[in-house]
Amino acid sequence: MTAPRHFLDLWRMEGGTLRAILEDAKARKAARKGWPQGRVDADAPGRDRVLAMIFQKNSTRTRFSFDAAIRQLGGQGIISSSTDMQLGRGETIEDTAKVLSRMVDAVMIRADRHEDVERFALASTIPVINGLTDRSHPCQILADLMTFEEHRGPVAGKTIAWVGDGNNVCASFIHATAKLGFRLVVACPPKYHPDLRDLARAAEEQGRVEVTDDPHAAVRGADCVVADTWVSMGDLDHDERLEALEPYQVDQSLMDLADPRAVFLHCLPAHRGEEVTDEVMDGPQSLVWDEAENRIHVQKSILAWCFGGVA
Ligand code: CP
Ligand code: NVA
Repeated sequence: MTAPRHFLDLWRMEGGTLRAILEDAKARKAARKGWPQGRVDADAPGRDRVLAMIFQKNSTRTRFSFDAAIRQLGGQGIISSSTDMQLGRGETIEDTAKVLSRMVDAVMIRADRHEDVERFALASTIPVINGLTDRSHPCQILADLMTFEEHRGPVAGKTIAWVGDGNNVCASFIHATAKLGFRLVVACPPKYHPDLRDLARAAEEQGRVEVTDDPHAAVRGADCVVADTWVSMGDLDHDERLEALEPYQVDQSLMDLADPRAVFLHCLPAHRGEEVTDEVMDGPQSLVWDEAENRIHVQKSILAWCFGGVA
């Protein structure tokens, strides 16, 4: 039996595969322009497939975009919160993975602990997709890079400035640097710097990642500025974070230091008035709504890859 195609982290993927997924997503999006959301793509690469979606944490975008995605591919989805499953009463990850492997064709999981997604994949005979963990959010970053490229052309050689917490979403940006050839400058307070394992991985692959505590230096001349919440799901030190991250708010004066054609991205949900101002969120450089929509398009191509197509 061939090994299932898991989509767990960008650092595990070939750069060529990520590029193929991005191009497939752009083509799928163009091909269905103006169609109602429920119409199935002409090639229906998910025909006869069932996707299970399991959530240990809250979600709006990941939940609806994966469900819409599998429908547009011609397949069907089943969504469950982990607390409604026996998983929430102590059934093991491995046993759950073995059972679902007999019932559905792929599983998307949003988990509290990254290790749990890894364990699920190890025990699973069907593809497993990481829909966000405490350590990474790979689907989000492909949607972000697709959005950037739609507006600013190839990301290779460009500079992306991450401003704020060096968190799970930041980690997936770090994982993508070497694979897709862009430069990432992370501005964060020293206490909330990125995971050193991710920085080491990027360095091994000659990924261009710089870390500074100066948001102004990070943003100067950048092609893209990215923010995310200062308090991620599962973070307990709310007040400390707000205090340490306050100098890292993305406001228009910070955006004005970037390249004049720079775009603003945020995976959402945003905390307006904390990590980003209304002026930037709703301003002409903001691509946040395209970015949210592109979750559907890119996840369709991730699913199609998991089902054996794309590349
Ligand atoms: N960006 C993102 O993953 O959003 P949700 O938490 O709403 O799924
Ligand atoms: N960093 C945020 C992203 C939410 C989509 C979190 O993990 O809560």
